[in-house]
This record gives sequence, C-alpha cells and structure tokens, in this order.
Amino acid sequence: MPLYSAKVMDHFRNPRNVGSIENADGVGEVGNAVCGDIMKIYLKIDNDIITDVKFETFGCGSAIASSSMATEMIKGKPVSEVLQLTNKAVTEALDGLPAHKLHCSVLAEEAIKAAIEDYQSKHK
Ligand code: FES
Repeated sequence: MPLYSAKVMDHFRNPRNVGSIENADGVGEVGNAVCGDIMKIYLKIDNDIITDVKFETFGCGSAIASSSMATEMIKGKPVSEVLQLTNKAVTEALDGLPAHKLHCSVLAEEAIKAAIEDYQSKHK
C-alpha cells in the first residue's frame, strides 16, 4: 500500500484555496516547533458564515494537503460548526495519513481555530 492516499497526493499536487485574503476578518498562524513548519489561515466571515478561506503553508506535503482539505471542508459553514472541526476529521477526509504525519493535520485544526479566535476577538 502506498504511504500516501490518492487524496493526499491530489491535494498536495493541486492544493485548493492557496493564497491570502486582503482585509481578512480573521487570521490565524500556527507552527510546529519540532519540524518548524508554519501554517497561516485567512478567513472572510459574513453573518457568522465562512464565505472565503485561503491558506499559506510553509511545510511538508501532508501539511499542504491537510490545509487544502480543511479549507474545502469549512467553506460555506457556520463558525459554530467550524469550531468543531478536528484534525481527525481532516485526516479521515484525506483517507488517512501515516502515524508520524498526523501532527501535520493538527496544524490545520489549530490554524483555523486561531483564525476564528482572531475574528471573535475583533467582533465582541
Ligand atoms: Fe511538520 Fe508536516 S512535518 S507539518
């Protein structure tokens, strides 16, 4: 069995929603101190719905695939639902990641949550 699923390879080779959003409503940046990879998520939020999302990931292929899949999973969803997104759900949507690459999907969950926290701190 190949190390990476076809879905991981697809999202790594053709990542969705790459880039940044000018005047984003929420921005979250997280990193992993061990591998040094960094992920940044930009959100556009209207009426508590994620209307647009982009990411910049300076990291490994699994981190890029996780960010790409996670952005697809949260677009059009309400903030309350997006806050429930787990790295496990992202990993499952990718048809799995090798055990030593699971931390890459954690970055996606954390970056999205950080971006929502940023949004909520500005809209109290
Ligand atoms: Fe660090 Fe993948 S090896 S995020």
